[in-house]
Amino acid sequence: MDHSPSGSLRVISLCAGQGRDLLEVLADHPRRDDVRARLVELDARNTALAEETAHAAGLHQVDVVAADASLTDHYRGMVPADLVLVCGVFGNITDEDIERTIDICSQLCRTGGTVLWTRHRESPDRVPLICEWFEARGFELQWLSERDVGFGVGVHRFAGEPQPLVPGMRMFTFVGYDVLRGTRAQAEDA
Ligand SMILES: C[S@@+](CC[C@H](N)C(=O)[O-])C[C@H]1O[C@@H](n2cnc3c(N)ncnc32)[C@H](O)[C@@H]1O
Repeated sequence: MDHSPSGSLRVISLCAGQGRDLLEVLADHPRRDDVRARLVELDARNTALAEETAHAAGLHQVDVVAADASLTDHYRGMVPADLVLVCGVFGNITDEDIERTIDICSQLCRTGGTVLWTRHRESPDRVPLICEWFEARGFELQWLSERDVGFGVGVHRFAGEPQPLVPGMRMFTFVGYDVLRGTRAQAEDA
């Protein structure tokens, strides 16, 4: 947000949780009133907390949607966005779905906009592949956390032309880290 052009800014968050990565920053950010945000999260306890936080901070342009974030329909009217948060997602979905989600990021993010994403760095470390997938679609790496800090955070800036949003598409199935790990262990044992 610090480096975004003046005027109104759009932010979307997929699987937003309680929205803490955005709302706590936005609350006292100089651009707070320029930002329109849509947080999409399935768990009603999380959406209630996110709504409460946004309300308490007077962030009236934050829309919290209790819905399946994997469906493109929920981003209508908010894309291409200046900032796309895909945090806590890539460690919980299959590799195929990670690539599909990155592919659809070119419908979600405006030219010059940013995708901020996370992924754990346990084996198999998919961070290098995620960077390759973004770069193959016109995203340039702006920042990546160091290999050994115990987490993975990446920031990619979109240098391409956004594709029109295709409604009715499913980006991923949120399988969950534990299930994915169990499935991988079974495959290795077989
Ligand atoms: C690991 S947390 C990440 C939360 C937040 N983005 C963060 O980084 O702190 C994953 C979140 O995804 C939510 N979730 C799981 N499946 C979802 C789906 N299909 N649509 C929306 N949210 C989902 C969970 O309820 C949980 O809050």
